[in-house]
Amino acid sequence: SLRPPGLVLPRIMGHRGAKALAPENTLASLKAAAAAGVTWVEFDVMLTSDGQPVLFHDDTLKRTTGVAGAMAETPLAVVQDLDASHGFGRRYGRRAEAGFRGRADCRVPSLEQTVACLLDLGLTPNVEIKSSPGLAKETAEVTLTRLLGLWPGDRLPPLISSFERESLAAASRVAPQWPRGFLAEKLPADWRDAMAALDCASLHLYWRRTRKADVQAAKAAGYAVAVYTVNGLRAGRRLLDKGVDCLITDRPDRLLAAL
Ligand code: G3P
Ligand code: MG
Repeated sequence: SLRPPGLVLPRIMGHRGAKALAPENTLASLKAAAAAGVTWVEFDVMLTSDGQPVLFHDDTLKRTTGVAGAMAETPLAVVQDLDASHGFGRRYGRRAEAGFRGRADCRVPSLEQTVACLLDLGLTPNVEIKSSPGLAKETAEVTLTRLLGLWPGDRLPPLISSFERESLAAASRVAPQWPRGFLAEKLPADWRDAMAALDCASLHLYWRRTRKADVQAAKAAGYAVAVYTVNGLRAGRRLLDKGVDCLITDRPDRLLAAL
């Protein structure tokens, strides 16, 4: 049976804010995405050692902050003072980094700071639950419980996505009314049953492994389809031609200008 039409995804969505334009998963990155013209942004949420949700991608702190340690072993008081512009310099050059280094909006943001910034910018979030090992359920429960208290009822609801089925199941219990996205690097054989059981609204696939037949099957089943992370124009066009609804990209500026 067809799902009721509901989730309308934007054609272009920023990835970790706008990862190529500013340090990923920071308020600076959300601002860069909004300045580029997107209306939606994807970002990752993890828990600190004292159970506070923050925007962060890796289990360890090193790549983006330059500091040794694991997110799951570091309290919010320490995490929130880390400068997340460190990895930006390594990847995009020291001159790019210099423009961000030390800025208050490049620290690791709490969920509260993030929501305030999103509302200010008029952005809708795709919140990816990205847990440290063993914390898939707890990370979703804490994040969704907190987000329910922060997100205004008169705004478009957040889209909650995860690679972890346990996180999606927890999200469906805590915030059943908010849409969920099923993330898969490789589409699993049981995707139909899993997406139905978790009552998902969208399928989020790794762009290089996205086959037209799978996109069409998902669309026929009533799901919206997003792909990550698409930064090139030719790849973007090919994926849209396959029927993909949404390109999640580090370069929203480039894709918005041409697609
Ligand atoms: O949510 C899409 C994408 O962000 C998933 O991969 O590793 O960039 O979080 P990753
Ligand atoms: Mg992500």
